[in-house]
Amino acid sequence: MPESTLLGLPSGTPRINEETCRGCGLCAAVCPAAALVVEDKTVRAASDPPFGCIGCGHCMAICPTGSITVSGRGIDPEDRIDLPPENTRATADQIEALLLARRSTRFFKEGEVPDETLKRVIDMAATAPMGIPPSGVGVIVFHGREKVQALAEDLVADFKGASRFLRGFSFLARPFLRKETLEALKSFVIPLLDLTREKRAEGRDVLLWDAPAAILFHYGPYADPADCDIAATYALIAATSLGLGACPIGTVKPVLDRNKALKEKYGIPRKNKCGLVVVMGHPRYRFVRSIRRRFASVAYA
Ligand SMILES: Cc1cc2nc3c(=O)[nH]c(=O)nc-3n(C[C@H](O)[C@H](O)[C@H](O)COP(=O)(O)O)c2cc1C
Repeated sequence: MPESTLLGLPSGTPRINEETCRGCGLCAAVCPAAALVVEDKTVRAASDPPFGCIGCGHCMAICPTGSITVSGRGIDPEDRIDLPPENTRATADQIEALLLARRSTRFFKEGEVPDETLKRVIDMAATAPMGIPPSGVGVIVFHGREKVQALAEDLVADFKGASRFLRGFSFLARPFLRKETLEALKSFVIPLLDLTREKRAEGRDVLLWDAPAAILFHYGPYADPADCDIAATYALIAATSLGLGACPIGTVKPVLDRNKALKEKYGIPRKNKCGLVVVMGHPRYRFVRSIRRRFASVAYA
């Protein structure tokens, strides 16, 4: 396979054990990058795949004899893990029940989230798909109310400046802004920043909801912003499945993105952008029913 670079990283390297390979061709059939070819029941790396091997690992996940491995782009042979038996997987009814029971949880019991539970949420969230491997998503874990509150304090301290900046911006840039953007700034974003500050001064945290744990998702310059949101969504579902309540917090993103000092303080690489923060803990209240939700439209083309 030629030396090629994709989104800042060299191509992955597939290795085929010719002694055990049966030449069934499943690896080449599922490769999304056309990086493998099978000829006369012999699998080999393609000579000129358009993007090289992207390192998705599909070949090594499908090979019935374990004869192919991939190295590079954040993956190596040890990343092959056995699948739990099929009869242990959640059914559609169970997944739908979990999704119906999930609510954005903003009120938490006193206790902390155990280490193992938080680690499991992170491991489960890391199974999320990404545009092109390896994942460019990073997470910062705030474990314990003290750490979550330190973050809330840092963020709210910046809300005064952010609110003032947005007021000036919405006035000066008014002729160039879409009506909806202006309306969102005036009717929601600016009042929300002000309200959050007022409540904090009264001793109430309506930003991170006094949660006992929070995970901040950020993403590198080569990552699709959707990677970050999908990973956060997986974390929400994972947390719900572990008996926690969780809530995605979007307000953090614009504040952290424009505050270089805070990004540095929390170890977010300069070129990275912030996504959602997911706050979580044991829910103080239990919802007794779900709510029917609808997309704005559903059309069949
Ligand atoms: C992108 C995104 C950003 C959000 N930001 C916040 C936030 O900053 N603060 C908050 O309390 N809830 C936030 N939420 C939670 C929503 O308000 C919540 O999902 C919505 O009201 C529907 O309730 P449900 O999640 O229980 O279905 C956010 C949700 C999403 C998807």
